[in-house]
Amino acid sequence: MKVGVLTGGGDCPGLNAVIRAVSRRLFARGHDVVGIREGWRGLVDGRFEPLGPREVSGLLPRGGTILGTSRTNPYRVEGGVEAVLEQFRAEGLEALVAIGGEDTLGVGARLYAEHEFPVVGVPKTIDNDLSATDYTFGFDTAVFICTEAIDRLHTTAESHNRVMVVEVMGRHTGWIAVMSGIAGGADMILIPEQPVSIEDACKEIRHRHDRGKDFSIVVVSEGYELEGVADEGDVDEFGHVRLSERGVGAQLASQIEQQTGFETRVTVLGHVQRGGSPTPRDRVLATRYGLKAADLVHDGSFGRMAALHGDRIVDVSLEEATAELKRVPDDWFEVARAFFG
Ligand code: F6P
Repeated sequence: MKVGVLTGGGDCPGLNAVIRAVSRRLFARGHDVVGIREGWRGLVDGRFEPLGPREVSGLLPRGGTILGTSRTNPYRVEGGVEAVLEQFRAEGLEALVAIGGEDTLGVGARLYAEHEFPVVGVPKTIDNDLSATDYTFGFDTAVFICTEAIDRLHTTAESHNRVMVVEVMGRHTGWIAVMSGIAGGADMILIPEQPVSIEDACKEIRHRHDRGKDFSIVVVSEGYELEGVADEGDVDEFGHVRLSERGVGAQLASQIEQQTGFETRVTVLGHVQRGGSPTPRDRVLATRYGLKAADLVHDGSFGRMAALHGDRIVDVSLEEATAELKRVPDDWFEVARAFFG
């Protein structure tokens, strides 16, 4: 078989490790691999590059993606879906491994449902918001980076008696905030799933300072709903607002300072969270996902996605994986809440 591979959506540590594992397993089974440039855009425009053992060598620790990525949605490009089908056929491809999050895989699920397009998915995103898998690769690295930042901010907070607000990514779910907040010992964590008001947050901070602590660390998700912060702005081809532009961290810091009187600063971690080399855990997860995706292609099991259930790599339907966002459950937030105030 001639198998295409693409990476779509935001880049993420571990993408190259998946490309390597998919390719190595497919080579071993006698298949050819073709890289598709910049996600679905490369299939619309027909931008291909053959991948051989040399091209996929040395990729395991490398951040970003050697194939490039984009947020192109063929369903939003005029004639986009027809172009994808035609380019795929003309290149002689017989299967596709799509590595992406809910948007990239959502396109795959729809193409499979509507055109029996032979696609297999691999769950990527630092946000960890894909259903039907316990973890996406890239998330562990993002949590590691945020935790390290929180540790560093602790020393400044302590030295200056300040409240330090740390804004992290995660889009409409609070996985990164909750996990890095727990790992970094945050005194307050604000996420989209939990309607903790600014008044209650300030009450907890005051309570902590009354207990004799004179600094606090507050972790906030970029998607946290804060009164006065608009949920509008530029949207991408999948209809997502650029949440980083809302400036929720800065607004929160200013409201905390006003309501508590404590000197407050904000740090927005931004794309640093997606950069650099994957953690060992993400390298291993990405590798296991890549091997599974190649096996699914080899077996002709299309419309499926590699997933992690407990410690096992399994496969689930792309439809199930993209039907809804996986939100932070209450019991995870309770672990974080035990340390507030
Ligand atoms: O989905 C990954 C993510 O990093 C989100 O956490 C964030 O909201 C978004 O992508 C940022 O997108 P961009 O790189 O297009 O600014």
